[in-house]
Amino acid sequence: MPAPVLLALESSCDETAAAVCALDGTLLAARVASQADIHRQYGGVVPEVASRNHVLHVRPLVETVLAEAGCALPDVAAFAATAGPGLVSSLLIGTSMAKALAVAEGKPYLAVNHMEGHLLSPFMNGHGPVRPCVSLIVSGGHTLLVRVRAAGEYEILGTTRDDAAGEAFDKIAKMLGLPYPGGPELDKLARQGDANFLDLPRSFMTRGSLEFSFSGLKTAVLYELPKLDLKQPGVLENICASVQTAIVEVLVEKLLRAARRHGEHLVTVSGGVACNSGLRSALRDRCQREGLDLLLADPALCTDNAAMIAFAAVQRFNAGPSNPLDAEVDPNLALA
Ligand code: KG4
Ligand code: ZN
Repeated sequence: MPAPVLLALESSCDETAAAVCALDGTLLAARVASQADIHRQYGGVVPEVASRNHVLHVRPLVETVLAEAGCALPDVAAFAATAGPGLVSSLLIGTSMAKALAVAEGKPYLAVNHMEGHLLSPFMNGHGPVRPCVSLIVSGGHTLLVRVRAAGEYEILGTTRDDAAGEAFDKIAKMLGLPYPGGPELDKLARQGDANFLDLPRSFMTRGSLEFSFSGLKTAVLYELPKLDLKQPGVLENICASVQTAIVEVLVEKLLRAARRHGEHLVTVSGGVACNSGLRSALRDRCQREGLDLLLADPALCTDNAAMIAFAAVQRFNAGPSNPLDAEVDPNLALA
């Protein structure tokens, strides 16, 4: 009989995902069914459409990852699912499936915080164990600076007052006429642009603040746009490069500020925006110059996936407690 494994499901937004990992956290199989093509026509995620598609995808995904991992349901020692934060109607699909499987197999159910999945993802692929660090999570819905003392011991150091970093990328990309989701598109164009083209605000707020604000940047771009001709060669690329640099500079500065303040030598970065090429190279550069260790989540693990949920679930499974089957989903589930 194969060694016991853990099965995890992710359905907090518009990606349905399933993964199987060994109880030491080694990933055995992972699949993501993205709905980006479906939601693109609406310019954003439509919750009702998302949950209906989760229903269609979740069972085939479970069957696929179990087969790819070379195991069957009786080999699963625990079933985990993202219980928040996210869209309630989407969260309910993954959690209901995981609970149903847990009941059928007589195994524990683990409710996982989506942000904890992102937070621990830099420690995957053999970069563990989870250890003290200052961590930046930058996704479509969140911008969080977190102090990690150990797996499960977190302190929020800063968050956004308005838009999340990914939201800023997406909203500005939309203003520029780029397709949804705009972050990756803006990143591609920025690579060919001049970051000094527009003088955009960097919101550091009060000196020493670890809070973020990106709505001023969005407004600044909105005021610049009527003065610019996007059809002129290079203009779009230059705007993208200016926007990206304005966001990246603030993210890097605050992460390093937090690390210095808390005396941590390891910084980690995760979430969809951690795919951004400008952010990755600025982080590598600054951390090297300042003698900090940097763990960046693998790009394949930055955007929503179930592998990170499995990894977070395994940390808790090995520590003991599971969740009751009447555990609710929570659209605003807090990390700490
Ligand atoms: O973590 P994620 O998949 O979903 C949430 O939990 O929100 O993050 C999605 C976000 C979107 O805002 C998307 O535009 C952004 O990550 N993103 C990027 C890049 N790739 C994804 N933003 C900037 N540059 C990228 N290369
Ligand atoms: Zn996410």
